Amino acid sequence: MQEIRPADLPGEAAYKLLCAVVVPRPIAWVSTRSASGCSNLAPFSCFTFVSHRPPMLGVSIGRRQDGFKDTARNIHETREFVVHIGDETLLDALHSSGAVLPPEISEADLLGLELAPSRLVAPLRVARAPIAMECRLHKVVDFGVNQFFVGEVLLFLIREDLAANGKVDARRLRPIARLGGPNYSTLGEIIAMTPQLEQSGPQSAVSRGQTPTPGDTR
Ligand SMILES: Cc1cc2nc3c(=O)[nH]c(=O)nc-3n(C[C@H](O)[C@H](O)[C@H](O)COP(=O)(O)O)c2cc1C
Repeated sequence: MQEIRPADLPGEAAYKLLCAVVVPRPIAWVSTRSASGCSNLAPFSCFTFVSHRPPMLGVSIGRRQDGFKDTARNIHETREFVVHIGDETLLDALHSSGAVLPPEISEADLLGLELAPSRLVAPLRVARAPIAMECRLHKVVDFGVNQFFVGEVLLFLIREDLAANGKVDARRLRPIARLGGPNYSTLGEIIAMTPQLEQSGPQSAVSRGQTPTPGDTR
């Protein structure tokens, strides 16, 4: 194995390495509003959910040399944001919205993306996004040079054809994910696994595609 010690890495190499090994990453497409009312939209792939009761999402945002990114500053100011999940048809717009623009310029306006009012928070949502989650800031935690913003989801908005019985059909959603460098991916093969067996010891993996039998401890 090649050994790499973070302390030996120059400049942004550790960032690039993390981006290349933590893959594929879902992308939070975050809309915010500044205290003065400007809309902002930007993608963040250092993203996950951190609690399910209540539902909470976490997004890690880096700093600029001259201070906060617009998204971070807006969330600090207004404590509200909307996290969208983009689909394949929105890849160009999502990628382009990562450009560094002055805070008073709305990425959505520039890209011709229609914004719609949210139901419970002030930031507008991207009308075409198949999923939007309206969030209120719960906590901000500093980790190294990043700030991790955790928001409670106040409302899930899911396109009608995607949701059934509280589940979302990933094949219909066609989400996009981020890889290392300027690369993205779409969903590959979806592999349905049988549930793990209940057992007293550590759970064991069950061979792909095989129906487990009682007492199977593979
Ligand atoms: C797909 C994608 C994912 C990104 N993920 C992150 C991330 O997780 N954290 C981060 O700080 N910047 C990330 N960026 C960079 C920000 O989107 C970029 O700095 C953007 O200009 C921030 O916009 P804002 O100043 O309007 O908030 C990502 C960019 C792209 C295109």
